[in-house]
Parts: sequence; structure tokens; C-alpha cells
Amino acid sequence: MAEQSPALDNLLSESRTFPPSAAFAAQANATADAYAKAETDRERFWEEQAERLHWDTRWSQVLDWSGAPFAKWFVGGKLNVAYNCVDRHVEAGHGDQVAIHWVGEPGDTRDITYAQLQREVCRAANALTSLGVSAHDRVAIQLQMVPEAIIAMLACARIGAMHSVVFGGFSPAALRTRVDDASAKVVITSDGQYRRGKAAPMKSAVDEALEGAESVEKLLVVRRTGDEIGEIPWKEGRDLWWHELLDSQPDEHTAQPFDSEHPLFILYTSGTTGKPKGILHTSGGYLTQAAYTHHTVFDHKAGEDVYWCTADIGWVTGHTYIVYGPLANRARQVVYEGTPNTPHEGRHWEIVQNYKVSLYYTAPTLIRTFMKWGDDIPARYDLSSLRLLGTVGEPINPEAWMWYREHIGGGSAPIVDTWWQTETGGIMISPLPGVTHTKPGSAQRPIPGISAKVVDDSGTEVPFGSGGYLVIDKPWPGMLRTIWGDDQRYKDTYWSTFADAGYYFAGDGAKYDDDGDIWLLGRVDDVMNVSGHRISTTEVESALVSHPDVAEAAVVGATDETTGQGVVAFVILRGGTAGGTASDADNSETVNALRQHVAGEIGPIAKPRQIMVVPELPKTRSGKIMRRLLRDVAENREVGDVTTLADSSVMDLISAGLHKGSDED
Ligand code: PRX
Repeated sequence: MAEQSPALDNLLSESRTFPPSAAFAAQANATADAYAKAETDRERFWEEQAERLHWDTRWSQVLDWSGAPFAKWFVGGKLNVAYNCVDRHVEAGHGDQVAIHWVGEPGDTRDITYAQLQREVCRAANALTSLGVSAHDRVAIQLQMVPEAIIAMLACARIGAMHSVVFGGFSPAALRTRVDDASAKVVITSDGQYRRGKAAPMKSAVDEALEGAESVEKLLVVRRTGDEIGEIPWKEGRDLWWHELLDSQPDEHTAQPFDSEHPLFILYTSGTTGKPKGILHTSGGYLTQAAYTHHTVFDHKAGEDVYWCTADIGWVTGHTYIVYGPLANRARQVVYEGTPNTPHEGRHWEIVQNYKVSLYYTAPTLIRTFMKWGDDIPARYDLSSLRLLGTVGEPINPEAWMWYREHIGGGSAPIVDTWWQTETGGIMISPLPGVTHTKPGSAQRPIPGISAKVVDDSGTEVPFGSGGYLVIDKPWPGMLRTIWGDDQRYKDTYWSTFADAGYYFAGDGAKYDDDGDIWLLGRVDDVMNVSGHRISTTEVESALVSHPDVAEAAVVGATDETTGQGVVAFVILRGGTAGGTASDADNSETVNALRQHVAGEIGPIAKPRQIMVVPELPKTRSGKIMRRLLRDVAENREVGDVTTLADSSVMDLISAGLHKGSDED
């Protein structure tokens, strides 16, 4: 190659910055010197973090990377993950502290103390043991956000069995693939679930999934909706009620220590092609990173804060920041069963007000939804208890960040934009609250102990002000250990792109700004190439969302005869100006204004060739926009597989709207 072109053009610039308040900085868990300390002796730094946990046997070696890319952390150490998350807090005299303030969607609530949690986890551990589940066995869990989900996960951890949690909204086919891939011996689900104000059956879909599943010996059923959904199908010999089985078990159980590298869980994540990948996490390193990041990045103070992570336990965020991190740190947390607009659009803020939530962690997709619903909704509630806000899952557009800060954080709560993945186990890149001068839209720097870089195609670090690929260049404790049953796929997927350098490639594009702060630019397969310029879909989306009329935007590159690819945008307009209700003439005026706006914000090169006003965007159940489907629309193809969409009717809505005519030049 004669000349290296930048892997990604750096187009959007953001100059707003927010220093921490002196009061926050004075009490912060994070300190500025941690960066240098970790840099000087990374292994010693992680060793100190591991010392937050209770180890039955101390490790003899911090890291064994001799078998790279297969890592071993805290070699020779032994611990019990569930003991660390529950029992040790009770033994330290905190048994009466609430661990979980559970809020059911219909309005029922349960407060569970650490002492109660300990008894429940012990019963569940005894119950699983009575069914013949032992260390290394796999248990699949498909449950909505009920306390039993957390209890079941901890019970598995306690006896050394691996859990594989499958998101409650996944289809029977998706559950079956995962049950078969892991050869799950026991499956745990519920009779039904409350969703958007209605009780809906759940077990019947699980029955369908398990038809002929050879590995499955028992199906445990949590009772949630009871009589409301009518008769529950029952398979004698296989099916057992969770409460009946647990009631017959003693509430004491001695936790055995397991090796630091003992497998803790499998969590499936979909790739662009092929069957889902079973991401395998192990015990000591994962728990260390979960506890350290929850303490440092969320500034969590045990006994003082009320923490709420709005994720579902079906995703890694629920694993690390509802179950393992917070419980290892003796958090008092809110767990909410339902959707954010049931029975009204202020439900989250009502919960924040009622429980005086101080730390709130959510996803950009929800923040943009709140923006769409209107500023007046959060304004009705007392949100003054909130002292820190977090976001995760996708790049947050600067305007959504500003809205979050103003309307939820009272203009003062620090925002931590946390970048990480199912594969990384815990947070990798994030501002440190009380230390970092935050910038709307940027995840900023690898946290102390983590090393990441932005590199070009050849693996060379790009200069400040340039874009490229985000790589992680040093092993970290929470890293995935392999893909379940497929070491070769693990190597090929994550370690082959920059094999010579030995970098883990995360699949994300990123850029450094002039200060060296990192901006995530979306998955590299979301990069457009317009007349030889590599343009990030995220940057164009952020430019669109910075226009006052736009609530949400998704951008794709569509084949273009002259420019290679052309920028095609799908936008949802704010509040009353929604495309569905406005006339086409009104829309065409808005569309023109938006095209000019993008040209002004980024440059004429990024001006969308076409902007379509739509009522909804196609999203996966974890809230990620499915650009593949939008590309199909933009390129006039038949729309591909929609089975992983949260709402499969969205594509019909979009297509129907478009047939009324689009807004091409
Ligand atoms: O593209 C990045 C995006 O989400 C991907 C990981 O998705 P998943 O494994 O489902 O885990 C989500 C929760 C950790 C990343 O490769 N992503 C996650 N957080 C951010 C993000 N993109 C930009 N900024 C973030 N803060």
C-alpha cells in the first residue's frame, strides 16, 4: 500500500466539556493517580482490586498469558462467587440491609435483605443439587426480571454450575439453539410474565422449545402470573414448581471454594453470521473486574447509595451490573420488572423518587425514547436524589447526553459513558466520575488497569485527531476465556485481525480527538464509504439528532453509482411533529432543513442523499438498531430476516410509509 489513508475520517467535533464539581471530586472513589499507578505495575494494580474479594486460597500468580490468547488470572486462587456476593455481607453484620428493592410491573413490591437473599440462594443451591446438578453442569435460565432470576444465577455460581441466561423475549427456536449448544441439564422459567400491563404465558413457549431436547432433565417453573393465564401445561416427571421444590430444602448450605478459572457462566451473543457464540466467563478475574468497575465508575458507596441498572439480566449488563458487581459490593438496588411506559411514561422517575435512587445506569436508546416522550414528564418528579448517571450499549449522541444531563441529572450529575462488550465482561473505557472532565458523546479513556488503542489497518496507532479500529492490547481480568466448545472460533473471531501485534479486536471503529479522548463510532461494518471518505454512521446520526426536530436517527450507506456509497438516513421527528401525522409537504421542508443541517455540522460530504421520515426504527431486543434491514430498504431490496427484531411489524410500518413517496433529490 503506497499511502495509508486514515481508517475513518474524523468529521464531527465537539467542544463542550464539564469538569467535576469540587464537592463530587472530594468524595469520589476514583482518583487521578490510579492511571499512573496501574500503568507502572498493571499486575500489582489488579492484585489490589482482587483483594476486595474474599479468597479461600490466595493466588500464586496474577496472570498467566503464556497460552495466549487463552488467559488465566489469579492462578491457583480459590473463591466462591456467591459467598462473595451474599454470605460475607451477612457475616459482616449487614444481614438486615436491603439488597433488592424489587418492583413488579403491576405495582407489587418485595424488599429482600441480604440475610433473606442468603437463605433463598442456599435453598436454591440445595434444590439444584437435589436434582443432580453439580459443578460444571449447565443450567439455562429464561426468566423475566424477577428476584428468582438473580437467586437462580447465584445458586448456580454457589455450586459451581454454569448458568446460561436467555433473554425472556427470545423465541422458542433461539432458546432451543442455546439449550442444545450448552447441553443444559436443567432449565428454569416462569409460568407467565407481566408485560405492558398484561399477563402473558411464558412456559408454553419454553415447552415448545424443549420438545425433544435430549439434555434437559428438569424444568423448574417460577410462579408469577398464576391463575391469570389459565391452565399451565405440565409434563409429569420433568416439570417442577420452583416454590414447591425450594420449600422442601434447608436454608443453609456450605459454599465450596472453586478455582479462580472455574467457569461461571455462558452468555450467547449473536455475530453477523453463523450460530450464536457462547461467550464463556470464569470466576476470579471476572468478579474482580465487576466489583472494581462498579465501585470506581459508579462511585458506589455501600450502605449509602441506592443503585438502579435498568438492563435485563438476559444481557451482559444485567449479569455484571445487576448481579455480580453490585452484590459483591453490597449494593442496595432497585430491580424493576416491567416496561418504562407501563402504566405511564413517568414510571422510571416515579421509582427514582420513591426509592431515592442515587445511581442510575441505562442505555442511549431509552434516553432518546424519554426525549421523545417530552421534557415535561421527568419534570413532574423529584429526581434530586440522583448523583450519577451512566449509559451503555451504543454510542450516545451528544444531544441525548446533554438532555440526560439537564433533564435527569439536574445539570450537575456526572455522566459515565461506559464502553464494553459481552466479551470484555466489564467496563473498559469510561470517564472516572470526580476525575474526568466529561465530554458529551465520548467514552474518553480506558479506565485504570485497561489498555486500549485506536489503530489503522496495519495495527499502528493513529495520531490524535484521526480514526481507526479500537483494539485492546493487554489482557484484562474480565476477558472472555473462549467461545463455548469452539476455541478455534474464539481465536478467529477476536485475535486474527491483528494477530502479529497480539491485539484483541473488538469490532468497533473509534477515533481520537485532539486531546486523545476516544469516541466510539459504531461497529466497523457500519462504516460508510462516500467518495473515498470513510464516514461513521454514528457521526451523521449525532448530527441529525442535534437538530431540534429530530428525536432519533439511523443512518446507513447504500450503494451509489457515483460515490460508491450514499448516505441514507431514517429519522423519527420529535413529539407532535411525528412523520406519520405531518403531511408530506411539511416533511419535505424538514428533510431539506436536515440535509443542510448535516452539511453544516459535518461537511457537505456527509449530507444525506436521502432522508426518510419514519414512525419507528427496527431494533433488536437489546435496543440496537438493525442497520442491515435499513440497508435493504435503502437499496430497494426485499427486507431480510426480521426474526430478531423486538417488534417485527416495524418494517411493515416503515415500508408502508415509504411507498407514499420518499424525498430524493
Ligand atoms: O459496539 C459497541 C456497543 O455495543 C457493543 C457490545 O454489545 P454487547 O456485547 O451487547 O454489550 C452491550 C453492553 C456492554 C460494542 O462492541 N457499545 C457498548 N457500549 C458502548 C458501545 N458503543 C459506544 N459507546 C458505548 N458506551
